[in-house]
Amino acid sequence: MKKHKIAIMGFGTVGGGTYDILTQNRDHIRSTQGVDIEVKYVLDRSAESLEKRGADKSLFCSDVDALAADKEVELVVETMGGVEPAKTFITKMLRAGKSVVTANKELLAKSWSELEPIAKENGCGLFFEASCVGGVPIVRALGESFQGDKVQSIYGIINGTTNYILSKMSAEGVSYSQALAQAQALGFAEANPTSDVEGYDAAYKLSILGSLAFHTSLPYQSIYREGITRVTAADIVNAKRLGYEIKLLAIGKRCGNDIEARVHPVFVEKNHPLASVSGAFNAVYLHGDFVGDLMFYGAGAGAHPTGSAIVSDIVKALCGKPTYCDFDNNGKLDKSVNLVGDFLSGYYICVTVDDKAGVLSRISTILSDNGVSIKAATQVPSDGNAATVVFLTHPSREHSVMRSLESIGKLASVRNIDSVIRVL
Ligand code: HSE
Repeated sequence: MKKHKIAIMGFGTVGGGTYDILTQNRDHIRSTQGVDIEVKYVLDRSAESLEKRGADKSLFCSDVDALAADKEVELVVETMGGVEPAKTFITKMLRAGKSVVTANKELLAKSWSELEPIAKENGCGLFFEASCVGGVPIVRALGESFQGDKVQSIYGIINGTTNYILSKMSAEGVSYSQALAQAQALGFAEANPTSDVEGYDAAYKLSILGSLAFHTSLPYQSIYREGITRVTAADIVNAKRLGYEIKLLAIGKRCGNDIEARVHPVFVEKNHPLASVSGAFNAVYLHGDFVGDLMFYGAGAGAHPTGSAIVSDIVKALCGKPTYCDFDNNGKLDKSVNLVGDFLSGYYICVTVDDKAGVLSRISTILSDNGVSIKAATQVPSDGNAATVVFLTHPSREHSVMRSLESIGKLASVRNIDSVIRVL
């Protein structure tokens, strides 16, 4: 059996997890897949990362050009993360005719359209199952399992950090900052959590998954994005009282020829399968026109779940021909497709008002004038002569709701618009 030599660039959590699987399951992969995979090099800043993991220190390599020049190395795994130097290194490997397996969603979302032609020109593959939803095989499923279907929608909990924070807030009644601090202490959130909590990470993944699902480039910059930093403990209490959980959802939806693409917190009804996805777990709820509803669930991050996705890509790359996108992967939304900004959604609106006659009626008049229909309204007295009023609306147009809020905010008797969260 031919021995396939590969290299790993970046030996942090995911690179190390990949190495564990390749070494511990080498015989299993050999006997079931008919490929023998040997790690020839680990490229990193120092050999310390190999030592820490108990990996063979003789694999250490710090010279990316020497690695690219080694003809024996067929494939390179990139688990460095971030845009640079990962992009330069991947480009070198592809130009040297080596297939690349990457877990790098940010790089892919930003540079897929540049990297794929380089892979094509050099007859090698660019594989990225691990870039989205860790160990959950959603990239493979979207690329290979729905040829007969039009995927109509994807609703994803595709960021574990924010799901962990929102689950903590829901289970323990703590504030956003308390939940974030706990997540950081336990290693679920980065010291700088911006990419996760502001929804960038989910937008990168939605850009990749949406492109595959809808067969068109879905640039991450065009995705509407709102993070979870403004979700309050009171919102969680209100959501629960009304029968919902709050989740950060990545939503991709076909609307005729057009597409909705957005990442923001959402009220999800408690009996919806996505409401029970808690902690750092991820899930993608997908609807195909013929297959119906499907849900993919599992660990969206971590050394071994993500390593598992990487190893499956390595085996796929070594056993078959590379495949490329079935759409014009040029990084731009097709001219014939519009991104829907004025989408339909239910809304949760929480406002603090003067507790006096006529206030509710003025607010409901504004909503009604803008075609926004109220589904439920509750008033909770708060301190002094103020009251908190919570509205749920029937599905309404985004622009109509935003117009209404602008007018509501100007009413003298409205002290504050505390929260606005869309309802699934
Ligand atoms: N920061 C990501 C998350 C890790 O929280 O899901 C996997 O991309």
